[in-house]
Parts: sequence; C-alpha cells; structure tokens
Amino acid sequence: MPGMRIRPFADNDVAAIHTIQQQCPQAAQWKPQDYLELAREPGSVILVAEVDPSGAPEVAGFAAFLQVLEEAELRNLAVYPSHQRKGLARALLESAILRLHESGARTLYLEVRPSNRLALAFYASAGFRLDYTRPNYYHNPSEDALVMALEILPPPHPKRRQES
Ligand SMILES: CC(C)(COP(=O)(O)OP(=O)(O)OC[C@H]1O[C@@H](n2cnc3c(N)ncnc32)[C@H](O)[C@@H]1OP(=O)(O)O)[C@@H](O)C(=O)NCCC(=O)NCCS
Repeated sequence: MPGMRIRPFADNDVAAIHTIQQQCPQAAQWKPQDYLELAREPGSVILVAEVDPSGAPEVAGFAAFLQVLEEAELRNLAVYPSHQRKGLARALLESAILRLHESGARTLYLEVRPSNRLALAFYASAGFRLDYTRPNYYHNPSEDALVMALEILPPPHPKRRQES
C-alpha cells in the first residue's frame, strides 16, 4: 500500500494500538500496560503499521511477538477495520520475520480460535501450518486453540551481478 510504513513500537503508540485492539474483538484484549511490559522484555518485537491518508501518519495496525532462542510467538495482531485487506498485516509479518530471523528465531508459533476465519485466511496465506490443537484452551466463549507454526527462512539473497 503506498504511503505505508512499518516501524518499531514506541511507548506513545500505546493509546493508538489499544484503540485498534478494542475495535477488533478477535484480537487478544490486553491492557495498555501489557504492551509496555512486553516492550521491556528481552526478545520482544512490537511493530506498528502507519498509514498516511491525509499527510498526518496514523497507526492503523500492530503486531507483537516474543522470541526465546529459536522459537518466537506471535502474541497479538490487529489492523483497524477500515484499513484491513490492504496488506498491512502481511507487511507487519514480513518485517517481523526479517528481524526475528536476524536474532536467531527459526520457528514462529501462534494460537488462534478455529472460529476466527479472517485470521485463519491470513495465516494460511502467510504459510502457517496447523501444528496441533489445544482442547478447550479459550474461555468466553469456550473453544479449542489451533497452534500454528511457520518456519522462518533466511531472506532471499540479492541477485549477484553477472561477472563479464
Ligand atoms: C487477521 C488480520 C490481522 C489481517 O489483516 P489485514 O491487514 O487485513 O491482512 P492483509 O491485507 O495483509 O491480507 C493478506 C492476505 O491474507 C488473506 N486475508 C486477509 N484478510 C482476509 C479476508 N477478510 N478474507 C479472506 N482472506 C483474507 C488474503 O490472502 C490476503 O491477501 P490478498 O488481500 O492479496 O488476497 C485482520 O483481519 C484483523 O485485524 N482481524 C481482527 C484481529 C484478529 O483476528 N487478530 C488475530 C488474532 S489470532
């Protein structure tokens, strides 16, 4: 999407991402403090997607990850409803994957409700595969969790210039 920028979360983004989360009931419903605490954890990667519709950049999506050695987990992800289906989540994930690979992560996991069709469509398009099911993992309403995994591959090498 033209005019979109992915950048690391800063503490003063917390109100914007909390609003996005509240507009997306399928996202994990965290307190603002939870984002600030995650941001302090070693191994956390929190990115925001900014769009620039009228000249003033506006945070329209975010993704939060936590990495421990070779494993990383997608902890939360949401895009403001009016900005969905414009490639923001894909750009957030691609940028995070580059960063996570660089710091040694090799597998990215996530948990999702089987009823969350939009998220499942997105994760399938990004290459996640079902790893296993956690029975009755979620409450209100009660539901299994699908644990999905994605192998984190190295970024493609830039084409070498042909020697003449
Ligand atoms: C899931 C979510 C983050 C996707 O964000 P998004 O920015 O709209 O996704 P993108 O535009 O990057 O979509 C990338 C691809 O995912 C798939 N996809 C995304 N939304 C889809 C939809 N509504 N229907 C079908 N496929 C969809 C498509 O393959 C799409 O590629 P395409 O547009 O070229 O066809 C967004 O729907 C959302 O915020 N949902 C509510 C919160 C949530 O469920 N979070 C996850 C909790 S586990």
